[in-house]
Amino acid sequence: MIKSKLPGTKPSIFAVMSALSNKHNAVNLSQGFPDFDLDKELIDLFNFHLSAGHNQYAPMTGVPKLRQEISKKIKNLYGFWYDPELEINITAGATQALYTVFNTVINPGDEVILFEPAYDSYIPAIQINGGIPVTIPLKLPDYSFDFDEVERKISDKTKAIVINSPHNPCGSVLSSENLKDLERIAEKYNLIVISDEVYEHIVFDNLHHISLCMSELLAKRSFVISSFGKTFHATGWKVGYVAAPKYLMEEFRKVHQFTVFAVNTPAQFSYADYLSNPEKYLSLNEFYQNKRDFLLKGLSNTGLIPYKAQGTYFQLFDYSNISDINDSEFSEKMTIKGGVAVIPLSPFYGQNYNGKVIRICFAKKNEVLEEGISRINKFLESF
Ligand SMILES: Cc1ncc(COP(=O)(O)O)c(C=O)c1O
Repeated sequence: MIKSKLPGTKPSIFAVMSALSNKHNAVNLSQGFPDFDLDKELIDLFNFHLSAGHNQYAPMTGVPKLRQEISKKIKNLYGFWYDPELEINITAGATQALYTVFNTVINPGDEVILFEPAYDSYIPAIQINGGIPVTIPLKLPDYSFDFDEVERKISDKTKAIVINSPHNPCGSVLSSENLKDLERIAEKYNLIVISDEVYEHIVFDNLHHISLCMSELLAKRSFVISSFGKTFHATGWKVGYVAAPKYLMEEFRKVHQFTVFAVNTPAQFSYADYLSNPEKYLSLNEFYQNKRDFLLKGLSNTGLIPYKAQGTYFQLFDYSNISDINDSEFSEKMTIKGGVAVIPLSPFYGQNYNGKVIRICFAKKNEVLEEGISRINKFLESF
């Protein structure tokens, strides 16, 4: 009856591995969500706003106080001021923000450059809007961004480039040198830049997040996207935002109003209050760095070789010293026989990937990480 718009799409690897994890009673270090509770203060705020009657449609652009708080936060952290009235819009998480941006920007036949491995929503969202994804591998040994290769792949059809820093799944971050390269290329070829910064508050080893709006030239041609789900351990609330210059935001809003229109009202009021204390998001770097280090130390004698994450709550490990089997099989074995669910890297690539790398999520309680580490050690001893 209908012709599939995404005929190649399979169930997401996250759902597949989580289901396998449940079936085998494994410790689930696969899917990227925190297993700890939200701050009680945030829950109290939500309850307060429910009772205060903030339960009907929010404005299409988002609750004004929340947009103002976001504008303040961006200005304080990155030095660029977005007009909260005209240049910031609240979205139902970053996934919707990304989808609506692609929907706004892409016309059939437009090419969109992105780095691989890539977060799984980008390519389908580009394709469903008639765009052509052009992929560039992140450069080993540290999965860094290769802008020389970007320039080689640019054609007269290139419309936009997607940047994700801190990067899921690799944990790499954009450097200030990268920012300069991107600025030069985007200007030279007149590109729109779509910047997924959902892990902006999870950066390690005294590095600082480089937001695209730190470059005035890039800010003028970019959609900057973030999400409170990652920052406040509330992935289920699905609230995020887009910041973009007025001429881009006007077009974004035309699409947004007919797809989502408004986003969860009490959650927006709660975040608007909660954001007034920067400590709530500035403390996250240390919190997650401790977890990353705990994981790295715990797996240091297993033969797994880490690509040390500079940000996010994911850590990649190469297992080629341990086994020759492909990454899906290795992850399944780890789940079924080892009792720990992890994610293979291949689903983050469109095709032709045969590396031996897995991703572990460390946004978990310490006791869960400890149990996972102990099981992985035992499993790999006997491999
Ligand atoms: C890189 C990246 N972008 C976007 C998202 C989606 O964020 P949200 O849950 O706010 O839709 C995720 C979630 O895992 C992510 O890792």
